[in-house]
This record gives sequence, C-alpha cells and structure tokens, in this order.
Amino acid sequence: MTARAQIGVTGLAVMGRNLARNFARHGYTVAVHNRSYAKTESLIADHGDEGEFIPSETMADFVASLARPRKVVIMVKAGGPTDAVIDELVPLLDEGDIVIDAGNAHFPDTRRREEALRAHGLHFVGTGVSGGEEGALNGPSIMPGGSRESYEWLGPILEDISAKVDGVPCCTYVGSDGAGHFVKMVHNGIEYADMQLIAEAYDLLKAGLGASAQEIGEIFAEWNKGDLESFLIEITADVLQHVDAETGKAFVDIVLDRAEQKGTGRWTVQNALDLGVPITGIAEATFARALSGSTPQREAGRILPAVAGEWEVTDRDAFIEDVRLALYSSKVVAYSQGFDQIAAAAEEFGWEIDRGAMARIWRGGCIIRARFLNRITEAYELNPELALLLADPYFTEAVGNGVAAWRRIVSQAALNGVPTPAFSSSLAYYDGVRAERLPANVIQAQRDFFGAHTYQRVDKPGVFHTEWSGDRTESPA
Ligand SMILES: NC(=O)c1ccc[n+]([C@@H]2O[C@H](COP(=O)([O-])OP(=O)(O)OC[C@H]3O[C@@H](n4cnc5c(N)ncnc54)[C@H](OP(=O)(O)O)[C@@H]3O)[C@@H](O)[C@H]2O)c1
Repeated sequence: MTARAQIGVTGLAVMGRNLARNFARHGYTVAVHNRSYAKTESLIADHGDEGEFIPSETMADFVASLARPRKVVIMVKAGGPTDAVIDELVPLLDEGDIVIDAGNAHFPDTRRREEALRAHGLHFVGTGVSGGEEGALNGPSIMPGGSRESYEWLGPILEDISAKVDGVPCCTYVGSDGAGHFVKMVHNGIEYADMQLIAEAYDLLKAGLGASAQEIGEIFAEWNKGDLESFLIEITADVLQHVDAETGKAFVDIVLDRAEQKGTGRWTVQNALDLGVPITGIAEATFARALSGSTPQREAGRILPAVAGEWEVTDRDAFIEDVRLALYSSKVVAYSQGFDQIAAAAEEFGWEIDRGAMARIWRGGCIIRARFLNRITEAYELNPELALLLADPYFTEAVGNGVAAWRRIVSQAALNGVPTPAFSSSLAYYDGVRAERLPANVIQAQRDFFGAHTYQRVDKPGVFHTEWSGDRTESPA
C-alpha cells in the first residue's frame, strides 16, 4: 500500500464520517477506518464519489496508508474508547507523527494523553470541534491544542475545512496540551448560559404578555435582526413557531420540561470552582437543568405558596424591549465570566491563549456563533490584558444602556414569581463586580472570630487577628 493519504480519520460514526467527507471535499486524500468495518463500507458506498478515500479494515493498514508525518484524527466516543484507540495506534506510529483527538475529551485527560504521547516522540493534539454533525460536514469551529510545531503541519488543513466568516477561518492554534479541549469546554458552558437565558426570556414573555409560542417565536425572529443575531436565537425562533404534526399544538408546548445534559456544563462549573472564578451565569444554567430534572422535589414543591401578583403588562412593546435588553446584558455577563475562566486557566496551566482569537473562531461553525462576538474580538484587540470584558468601553456602554431595563425585568419576575436564575444572578454579578465595597468584610470578621483566620485592614498594611474570646486586643498575625 502506498502511504499517500494526507490525513486519516478513525471513528466513522456521525461526526467522524462527516469530518472525513469534509476533508475529502476539500481535495485531501483521506484514510478512513472504524472499529467495525461496516461503517467504513457504508461511508464509501454512500459518499465515496465526494473525493478520494482510502478505506482500511485494520488499524495497521490504515496507518500504512498515511503519508508522513502521519496525521490521524480520532473521532470516537470520548473516555475509555479514546484510550483504547490510542493504545492500538501508538505502536504503529513513528516519531513526529500527529494524533488528533477531535472528540469531546475532558481537558485533564488530554493533558495526560499529551504527556504520554510526547514521551513516545508523538504529537498529541486535543482539538475542540463545535457545530455538531452539520458543522463537521460543512465547516465547524475548530480549537486545536498541543504543540505549536504540530500546528505548522496541521493548521492549514484544519483551517481549510473550518467555517469561514468574512473569509477568516474559524480555527486557530489555542495553546499547549489541553488548551484546545479546555476552550471547547468553556464554549459549551457559555452555550448552556446562552440557552438558559433565551429560555428565561421566553418564559418572561409568556408570563408577562400571555403570548403564545408562535408570537414569542416572531419576537425572537425580530430580535435576530439586531444585536442579538445568533444561531441560538435563530433556531429558537424556528422551534417556537414549529407546530406538532400529531396534535396541531405548538411543538414546544408538547415537549416535556426536563433538560438533559452530557456533562460539559458540569465540567465547566467544576473547573471554575477549582480555579475560584465566578461563572454564575453558566453555573445557574447548569443547575437550572438539574432543577428541571429534580422530579420528586418539583412534585413536592408544587404546594409552596407563590405570594405573587397577577402580572399585568401595560406597555407590550416597552416590555419586549426590556426583556431584549436584559437578555443582551445577561449574555455579555456569561461571556465575560467565561473569558475570565479561560484567563485563569491559562495562568494556572501555562497556556498563552489569545482571548480575542477565541471569540473570532466562535463567530462561525459553532453553536454560540453570534454577531456580537466581533465586538469581543475587538475588545481584546484593543486591550489584550483586559481584566473584565464588561469594562471594555463598548460593552460598558452597551450593557449600561440596558441596566435599567434589566433591573425592571428581574424585579418584576421576582414580584410575579417567575424564576429567572440566569438573568438575576447575572445582574447580581454585575452589581457585585462594580461595587465599591462588598460585604466580604463581615465574612472575614466572622472567619477571624470563629477560626482565627485573620484579616487585613483598609487603613494600614499587614495581617491581623483579634482575641475575640479574650480582651479583644488586636495583634499582627
Ligand atoms: N455528535 C455531536 O454533535 C458532537 C459534536 C461535537 C463533538 N462530538 C464528539 O465527537 C466524538 C464522536 O461523536 P459521534 O457522535 O460521531 O460518535 P459516538 O457515538 O460518540 O461514538 C461512536 C464511535 O466510537 C467508536 N467506538 C466506541 N467505542 C470504541 C472502542 N472501544 N474502540 C474503538 N472505537 C470505538 C464507534 O465504533 P463502532 O462503530 O465500531 O461502534 C463509533 O465509531 C465524541 O467524542 C463526541 O463527544 C460530538
């Protein structure tokens, strides 16, 4: 067998199959392999005419069909299966070859695998891929980690098959070892927040206006023409206006109100707790899914008194605009917090992540693609060290313009008993981060009282402790 494939894909379920087709359609010769040969055969039978594929039944033949340095994309079920494929692959590879894990791996696993393969002289590139099966075929957003050297070989191919916005590829080098999968994880966390915020906006419009799903869908379609323009707003407008064929009712009205999750939101929140970064929007969105699935608690909770008013919105258009502004502001908070998490992880793990470039590669291909990501890129270009996205001049003004509306919406929601965990927590974060003085002084005083945990003073340097159970004298700690 001549070793002429420019790239190989092993794992030909929906994602791998479409990624392989994407490579082939861009003129690459693609080696293809799957644990069970039937999937390989079906790819060739259904799409073999889309480009040049070299199918192999065994891993050894697959590796032998690749030109050096070999570039192998693994697209299998994340977790144990990825390790199993790596174990089979590694003995067949040579120094300098590049193994790309494009599945949804947890970044600590990617760090572990990268270290192990580096010891074999191999490059291991943990790569975030977003956009689902459609993106994999027509252009995903791609977030590769690993060594810079591997990107020299791999980057042009991945950029070629990625989504393009204004001719710019939605793919760039993210950072060493697990940085690519980390950024993909935060992307998914932001996706959770974005989806929850949209769902809360829907709920507010339903409760405040008594609007039907169809009407709310039309409002979302209108919003999609402005600052909120994004894939998620667009598909929400679409699903809200969809009618269930069986009952003739609005589709969303027959869907059970229990949101599931695959775990990336949970990983994002767990990591934020480890790093000590408040990502309240993402966390509330993750907990809101958990609450929706807390069946015994929800059944028991139905008896709880609402003590809430009858919501009467008098100015329909003004209310809709308030919800829109509150949604926009809360969304900026979710991104601001997500980018803080990326900065903190970069510091922790020694990654050099260009946050503006991350916003740029999320503009197309991925689930959170949105018009306002351009603004985030511009904010980090203006100030690469920006400590708080909300404090960028553009966002300070844009969110500032919405604060009054945001307060009206969150307070009306509270008065009328409509849960808005993401809207409310985002506003609380906004007020917290802009506060001159937080009540953390009281917490620190309590900690010193019961645990001699010490405190600092506002009027002089040093660390102090007060003898609370004795004569209450203060001494330097
Ligand atoms: N679906 C999406 O929208 C999406 C989006 C982004 C990322 N991803 C990630 O992309 C990856 C692939 O997703 P997918 O939905 O296409 O497939 P999947 O259902 O997650 O996995 C099925 C594939 O894994 C292979 N596999 C499972 N266990 C294996 C083992 N022990 N050894 C070798 N191969 C094994 C299967 O081979 P057989 O055919 O032989 O069973 C099949 O090719 C996953 O990591 C997923 O999280 C998915």
